[in-house]
Amino acid sequence: MFDSGLGGLSVVRQAQESLPQESILYVADQAHVPYGGRDLEQIRAFATGISRALVEKGCKAIVMACNISTATALSEVQRTFPHIPVLGVIGPGACIAAQQSRNGRIGVLATVGTVKSGAYTAALHRLDRTLQAVEVSCPAFVPLIEEGKESSSAAEEAAREYLAPLIKMGADTIILGCTHYPFLLDTLRSIANDVLFIDPAQETLRQLKFALIEAKSSSNASPVYTLTTTGDTTLYSEQLKRFLPNPPADTNIAAARWRGGELEFEG
Ligand code: DGL
Repeated sequence: MFDSGLGGLSVVRQAQESLPQESILYVADQAHVPYGGRDLEQIRAFATGISRALVEKGCKAIVMACNISTATALSEVQRTFPHIPVLGVIGPGACIAAQQSRNGRIGVLATVGTVKSGAYTAALHRLDRTLQAVEVSCPAFVPLIEEGKESSSAAEEAAREYLAPLIKMGADTIILGCTHYPFLLDTLRSIANDVLFIDPAQETLRQLKFALIEAKSSSNASPVYTLTTTGDTTLYSEQLKRFLPNPPADTNIAAARWRGGELEFEG
């Protein structure tokens, strides 16, 4: 699994519940966080580079725990590694939102790049042409979360601003279109308490579970988590205490480094 930073840990956290016996190698590409405002071609290169490194390390499945990576690189990585399940979060998120919305008005909170890609609206319209989708980019959120300020007044102020157009359109369902945003759920709910917020992680992992069963590669062992960062490992260890407070007993923290466009794991 991978993300630009700590956001994908919202998917890892969910995996602890839904796939408790699976081991996880996670990459937080904190050397490049935030991805959201970057050129889409550059994000595609990061996402394909990380996926390649994970496959070379022997991973039996890949989860892009990152919406913008899903939007830019999912189909390419699926084509490159047809022998293993490769999942993204956008299709599953759109699917649950389309199922749950009663009035057909769906909001999406996401990074600038994901909104620019239009991937959520496309996924929703593939499911149902009549759905009304509005996507709002939220550039302040990821830096606030990476800095541990998800409960600050700055986070609340930004949340009010980003939710306003979705409340105005009468959205009854809002997709958290960035894996960092589930860490803001309390703040978001305090502003829009009658809206259903969709975290795509749960459905993504449900689909992964089926894919592993189909591939006959489910695990029944104790899980080992290897949590890597391309950034500072000391800072990452501290951040993990908040973002993944109850990891399995066998959890290691390690470095991953970019060398000439290739990602290498250290240790
Ligand atoms: N968490 C990622 C996503 O789901 C990317 C956030 C970022 O680095 O901008 O899109």
